[in-house]
Amino acid sequence: LTAAATAVALTISAGAASAACDDGEIVVKFSHVTNTDKHPKGIAASLLQERVNEEMNGTMCMEVFPNSTLYNDNKVLEAMLQGDVQLAAPSLSKFEKFTKQFRLFDLPFMFKDIAAVDEFQASDSGQAMLDSMQRRGLQGLAYWHNGMKQMSANVPLLEPSDANGLKFRVQSSDVLVAQMEAIGGSPQKMAFSEVYGALQQGVVDGQENTWSNIYGKKFFEVQDGVTETNHGVIDYLVVTNIDWLNGLDADVREQFLTILGEVTQTRNSESTQVNQEAKQAIIDAGGEVRQLTDEQRGKWVEAMKPVWEQFTDDVGQDNIDAAQAINA
Ligand code: LMR
Repeated sequence: LTAAATAVALTISAGAASAACDDGEIVVKFSHVTNTDKHPKGIAASLLQERVNEEMNGTMCMEVFPNSTLYNDNKVLEAMLQGDVQLAAPSLSKFEKFTKQFRLFDLPFMFKDIAAVDEFQASDSGQAMLDSMQRRGLQGLAYWHNGMKQMSANVPLLEPSDANGLKFRVQSSDVLVAQMEAIGGSPQKMAFSEVYGALQQGVVDGQENTWSNIYGKKFFEVQDGVTETNHGVIDYLVVTNIDWLNGLDADVREQFLTILGEVTQTRNSESTQVNQEAKQAIIDAGGEVRQLTDEQRGKWVEAMKPVWEQFTDDVGQDNIDAAQAINA
């Protein structure tokens, strides 16, 4: 094999959708964990790759590695600081080692929908959070939306007491640990790539996620059903290594950030629709989707909301107040 052929073979085996980059192009490796189809992040990442490779051809070349083929979310930020990957979009729940500010987004029933999340993120407080990890070497570039979380388990979940004694997978966030404990569950932090197997083998009984993740990774196939709780949020931070970003020529950086901004706006406005399609796809595939009565939902709120008190110091009462004012 020639060197070029080897590079192509390596790229293909690593799961990248693009052809190998040309000599002299700035290579941007973008590692993420979800599927690419019927998924807000997967679609946005593909669009970003397409536009960068078309509009910045000869200057910059993006390779997207979806489905945890390069790193899972627990490793990707370390890899970014090492310079092994330039772009990632982990959920806001996965930055605990770097900042506690994003805990706001994990607090149950903090935001009533993604429009409220969007409004908070666009505020001065939300924009300041993009810069909260600069001293740790990370720069937030944009928020990407996924959607509201739903609960699933290997038994029907209609009231919080149904979760009593069940083992739940959670993302690596102490807020989510506290939330599951508040309903009598036993939480276990676990990488996204391991969830399907853990549900299938009964290592855990349940999990919480968006429609697009529950569909994209087929969790519904190994659960009794999914209950539409809309109790929390999964949203993403598009993040990069600040030294890498600062090392780009100003015009290159500007063009790249402009494309990212446009992709963000286009795809964020479609995220709710993408999740609704994933929900319908679950139903079409025979998955059980359960609705709560107002009374049942009130019980979930009552059980989970006391968790806020444990984290008020981390997230700031002013931010809680701002989020609540947006919901009103
Ligand atoms: C999860 O770990 O459940 C999610 O953060 C995965 C993702 O990137 O949406």
